Amino acid sequence: ARDAKAGARASSRAASRVRGSRNSSATRVVASDFQFGEILGEGSYSTVMRAVYRATGQEYAIKVLDKNHLKRNQKMQTAMVEKNSLVRLGSGHPGIVRLHWAFHDDWSLYFVLDLARNGEMQSRISRMGSLSTECTRYYAAQLVDALEYMHSKGVIHRDLKPENLLLDDAFRIKITDFGTGKLLDSGEEKAKTFVGTAQYVSPELLEACETTPSSDLWALGCIIYQMIAGRFAFQGLSEYLTWQKIKQLDYTFPEGFDEQAKDLVQKLLLRDPEQRLGAGPPGSPNDMQALRAHPFFAGINWKTLWKDPAPPLE
Ligand code: ADE
Repeated sequence: ARDAKAGARASSRAASRVRGSRNSSATRVVASDFQFGEILGEGSYSTVMRAVYRATGQEYAIKVLDKNHLKRNQKMQTAMVEKNSLVRLGSGHPGIVRLHWAFHDDWSLYFVLDLARNGEMQSRISRMGSLSTECTRYYAAQLVDALEYMHSKGVIHRDLKPENLLLDDAFRIKITDFGTGKLLDSGEEKAKTFVGTAQYVSPELLEACETTPSSDLWALGCIIYQMIAGRFAFQGLSEYLTWQKIKQLDYTFPEGFDEQAKDLVQKLLLRDPEQRLGAGPPGSPNDMQALRAHPFFAGINWKTLWKDPAPPLE
């Protein structure tokens, strides 16, 4: 215990907190304040581990990023974008993973995040083959709600996919992985860099290297399609062929695909980002309100969305 305290003192300069976040505002933490457990996920530059905060017994997911590896690959900026996006999003929405603390030591950066105990949506879809229309409706609605909040804060995710949708204890969605996010400065409307995962990349990103909040709506269309169909909307034998299909809007619905879901997907998977449902300015016929009002969401109570139990996963 004495060693841990000495270690904590030695690295206290590096310890940090998330400004503006309420329950952790006064406390600075270091790695030794946590008991690290199993690995929950691994990325190219990071490992997410289960961890218990010794002071309270509270469990978190801590994303550990290797500083040397980040620096060697010029990814420090990416890590900062992720942290800044999470800080900007704060604790303002139940559908977005919350950053409780960020700190670093000589070797690593640490992001202390909400622990989502039921893992990735991707594993659910894989395990079940596909999701029921009911389930898809519930998760699509939570995504719409979280996206509206995110975009209102000027954050574009840019890599939305079922791997980045986590499920909490109550099987509600928590969006994670803002490492590819983009923070729009006030007045700025487009971002010009290429990121994303082949199957969910929007045509404007492929053709003009441009992303707007509407690129996240394209990904939403791809995700709704995938939840119901159990396969990607756009999938070629190579990344290049997948991109060709996206640019040509070359996809078809399997037989029996819910008609209203089909209509919604068709209104999201439009080549012109401005035409997509949800992308229009408030008051326009394709604003976020119109997206919420789409017949596919008729059974959704938007006010109780984060309290309503998740439909059984079937
Ligand atoms: N895998 C990656 N991030 C996670 C988190 N926040 N909770 C649970 N598993 C995860």
